[in-house]
Amino acid sequence: MERLIIDTDPGVDDAQAILLATAHPNAKVEALLAVGGNVGLDHTVRNALTIVEVTGQDIPVYAGCAYPLVMFGEDASHFHGHDGLGDIGLVPKVRQAESEHASLALLRMANDAPGEYTLVAIGPLTNIAVALKLDPELPNKLKRLVVMGGAVTGRGNTSNRTAEFNIFADPEAAHVVFESWGKAGKMLELVDWEVTLRNGIPAALLERWFDMDTPRARFFKAVSEGALAFTRKYYHQDMIWAADALALSVAVEPDCVREAVARHVGIGLEGRYERGQTAVEWRTNRPTPPNASIVMEVDTDRFHALMEAGLY
Ligand code: RIB
Ligand code: CA
Repeated sequence: MERLIIDTDPGVDDAQAILLATAHPNAKVEALLAVGGNVGLDHTVRNALTIVEVTGQDIPVYAGCAYPLVMFGEDASHFHGHDGLGDIGLVPKVRQAESEHASLALLRMANDAPGEYTLVAIGPLTNIAVALKLDPELPNKLKRLVVMGGAVTGRGNTSNRTAEFNIFADPEAAHVVFESWGKAGKMLELVDWEVTLRNGIPAALLERWFDMDTPRARFFKAVSEGALAFTRKYYHQDMIWAADALALSVAVEPDCVREAVARHVGIGLEGRYERGQTAVEWRTNRPTPPNASIVMEVDTDRFHALMEAGLY
């Protein structure tokens, strides 16, 4: 059983990912840690509560950091909508966030059950970096850390061209997290933007899911239609890319990974085109110990099946 803590900035694909994880028989989502990212923290907290209500599960939501450690980069409201869930007016009906800060909740849970939790980061890494500053032993108190982030050969999705959003949104936080895992002699599992691009969801499959008449499928359709329209209009591609759902697939079913490589990943902190980069030491004759297991290929059909299973 994967006991999951999901750090998230919902976010259309965050919503898709949480549907997947809360439906998987081998996973139990035990907390959502909201962070500012795609949209502001007020919206990401509200969206996390909305998503929990759709799942019908009793999952606590903790509000975390509203802003990056050092400076604001950009948000992703152009894709996710101003409210983060497609601007269709979804709000939580009754649930409220816990009073404990997300970073403190993460440390409490990790210390209460050392080695038990898999932390899945599908937003900027600010909450986790703050937790690491409070307890540098965190890497040794988690079973796994799966990160959706980065662009391992520089094919980014942000204004600096080479960086992926979650890293670009808070490069200093990413630096703290990646270096902390390396110093602890551990590797985080990295699901980057480029493996996401290689595993898109074709429109034909989406439209079959949109026709499913269940509460989860209706919610999935409501928040995903805008993403399909965006990709068609701006990328001229008849598909969507569900980065966060891919990361949760790796978290709940590690066997869906077909190829992963252990490398050291450094984080660019300055420079017009370098800030937020995930700079990988691809040379194999170098002594730099790896801090990441980079997912290069997954079983695409299995990934799609896991997404569909989240809609019943
Ligand atoms: O680059 C993809 C990541 O940023 C995902 O977490 C998605 O939510 C986007 O905001
Ligand atoms: Ca996200």
